[in-house]
Amino acid sequence: MQNHIALNTGATMPILGLGTNQITDEAEVIRVMKDAANLGYRMFDTASSYKNEDQIGKGIRELDLPREELFITTKIWNTAQRIGNIEGAFERSLERLGLDYVDLYLIHWPVPGCCLDTWHEMEKIYHSGRARAIGVSNFSQIQLTDLMDHSEVIPAVNQIEYHPLLNQDPLRQFCQKNGIAVQAHSPLARGAYLKKDVLTRIAEKHFRSVAQVGLRWLIQKGCSVIPKTAQLDRLLENSQIFDFELDDVEMATIDSLNENYHSSTLPEDLLG
Ligand SMILES: NC(=O)c1ccc[n+]([C@@H]2O[C@H](COP(=O)([O-])OP(=O)(O)OC[C@H]3O[C@@H](n4cnc5c(N)ncnc54)[C@H](OP(=O)(O)O)[C@@H]3O)[C@@H](O)[C@H]2O)c1
Repeated sequence: MQNHIALNTGATMPILGLGTNQITDEAEVIRVMKDAANLGYRMFDTASSYKNEDQIGKGIRELDLPREELFITTKIWNTAQRIGNIEGAFERSLERLGLDYVDLYLIHWPVPGCCLDTWHEMEKIYHSGRARAIGVSNFSQIQLTDLMDHSEVIPAVNQIEYHPLLNQDPLRQFCQKNGIAVQAHSPLARGAYLKKDVLTRIAEKHFRSVAQVGLRWLIQKGCSVIPKTAQLDRLLENSQIFDFELDDVEMATIDSLNENYHSSTLPEDLLG
């Protein structure tokens, strides 16, 4: 199993990264980033809406790793899309992170009526070199098709909620067929499937945890995963997913657990 996914930009993206939503305390961010980096994590997923870009920036500097070893993702929030100042929002993110480029800049949510304008501004940012790749998050097949039909740059990534209780196979296959890498957010469904009997049995057979089985199921489908944890033992557990394999029957069993369950809710400003 390769530890990186090839992007349509020619660059690569680590398969495993750390989700950082809700880790905002500066000392905690720095501790978690150091623990993660010591275990081999090199990708950190943030967003302007997580209110931790400043802290992540401090963490990056404290890691003291060569910049090219890191893969930093951030995202543009809905309000900035509506206002239409994409360049300004992007520059503020870079400033907070203390970086002169990010590895991946994503449209956080498909705000109705804004996606194309936002994307065209992001294409300019991509061409300027300040985002090594641009992509989207929470986009459906219809929204992706519309974007691709009306723009020059194909998104490098679609970051979507994906786990055994929310099987996204049709959207994943569409993305992969079109050269768009799939990254699973909330890959543990925020804990919602960790006590399922079927998964516990599979995990016991492999001497693994249910979390590891859920993450492994995703990476065997060619996805990148960004589980969030602030705990050292779980950082280690979530990283130990490259040295065992689920067989076809186990994969199919997990495929059948879909409940269309969303652990991550639609933002308030997209409701109604
Ligand atoms: N693009 C989007 O719209 C979007 C939406 C949601 C999330 N995301 C990204 O995806 C990341 C991950 O998603 P998420 O934070 O929603 O949920 P998640 O990663 O599915 O689950 C995180 C929860 O599971 C716990 N946990 C982590 N590892 C565990 C393990 N091995 N065993 C048991 N429990 C474990 C964590 O608790 P502890 O911290 O206490 O360990 C936390 O409560 C986010 O941090 C964010 O970066 C993106």
